[in-house]
Amino acid sequence: MRILVLGSGGREHALVWKLRQSQHVEKIWCVPGNGGIAQHAECLEGRLDDVAGLATLAERLRPDLTVVGPELPLVLGIVDEFTRRGLRIVGPTRQAARLEGSKVFAKEFMQRHGIPTAAAYGVYDSPGDAYTALCAVDWPVVIKADGLCGGKGVLVAATPDEATAFLARLMEEHEFGPAGEQVLIEEALAGQELSYIVLTDGENILPMVPTRDHKRAFDGDRGPNTGGMGAFSADGLISPELEEEIRTTIVAPTIAGMAAEGHPYRGFLYFGLMLAEEGPRVLEFNCRLGDPEAEAILPRMESDLAETLFAAAEGRLSSVPAQWKAGASVCVVLASGGYPGKFETGKKIKGLASAGDATDVVIFHAGTRRDGDDYYTSSGRVLAVTATATSLAGAVSRCYQVVENIHFEGMHFRRDIAATALSSLAAGD
Ligand code: AMP
Ligand code: GLY
Repeated sequence: MRILVLGSGGREHALVWKLRQSQHVEKIWCVPGNGGIAQHAECLEGRLDDVAGLATLAERLRPDLTVVGPELPLVLGIVDEFTRRGLRIVGPTRQAARLEGSKVFAKEFMQRHGIPTAAAYGVYDSPGDAYTALCAVDWPVVIKADGLCGGKGVLVAATPDEATAFLARLMEEHEFGPAGEQVLIEEALAGQELSYIVLTDGENILPMVPTRDHKRAFDGDRGPNTGGMGAFSADGLISPELEEEIRTTIVAPTIAGMAAEGHPYRGFLYFGLMLAEEGPRVLEFNCRLGDPEAEAILPRMESDLAETLFAAAEGRLSSVPAQWKAGASVCVVLASGGYPGKFETGKKIKGLASAGDATDVVIFHAGTRRDGDDYYTSSGRVLAVTATATSLAGAVSRCYQVVENIHFEGMHFRRDIAATALSSLAAGD
């Protein structure tokens, strides 16, 4: 099999790394890739927002399968374009990717199909109506821009001042262009979050191991939101009863609902859940694997990813077995100083070669550039270090042992990935 992977982060490095282990895979290209991905794949230039250009490139390369990492090409309709040109690709069509591409579509879809989610106060096209709506909400309240805003389109606002300022940025200053001109205002839910990600062929569903992301920049869930500073998975993270509830009340009705509306969903579907006291509730859908969730999931996958994705693209996912390594995985993201705000790049990374030899540890590159034998930082999230072990405690300590040996100027990471779960698992909760 010859496979084309699209994307340039730690998630795509994890995909390429896992695909490389398949005995069916003979060649991998990645557009645009990064310094670490270049160890396992031929990296080619290309723009992820240029769907027609990517399809033309694929017509030349003739991969047996294309796998898409980030949401943007999916929301822009890359699956429709590839399919039209007879190129096999795994992922949702443009219509199906609206589950992530439009928060209003997602909320109305959940309402139509009785899928548990936060109650909506309303959807607003004019700033005046949105400000007026704030007079009748409970605080905190959640404001969501309808379209894609690179992870910056949601605010949990504690006060009317915060909410008003965010609405003004979206609807009057047009900070995110058309993506922010329509907003959804909904109730804030409390609880622990969970990333429940499945692969589906439109009918059959293959759940990944559940993971938990750490979105805030600093320890103790303080500081600004980031793309994700670390993630973990562990057997026993959620009870079998809760997992069954998630599958029957959320996952199955979503897949069935999309098919019933004439837009069967194919590919990875990420359910961002709040484990509220009343039960699991959907906060958001993403039409892709999470990042850094993918880096915590794929090292635990024992089955052949190439075979699995090929089966999903062909609508015969039920024919492939899914096997997972028992135990746990922990992924710690090493970020540039200042991220998610302003940061410098081009810093030399030290200690990578020896750290990379550690057993049960994989170092995924999220934003690096290779120059000879050396690697330099090239974006906010730089590396994602993942350890697997038979227990969560083992994975945490192994991961941080390796992290301690890596260094670049300004390097910043969280020291408490999985810490809360570790104490509750230890307490037997
Ligand atoms: P999103 O941009 O849709 O991924 O949402 C980003 C984050 O906002 C989620 O991971 C939650 O932490 C938070 N969030 C979204 N909706 C709600 C809600 N209804 N209640 C509480 N937090 C929320
Ligand atoms: N880690 C959150 C996301 O991928 O959206």
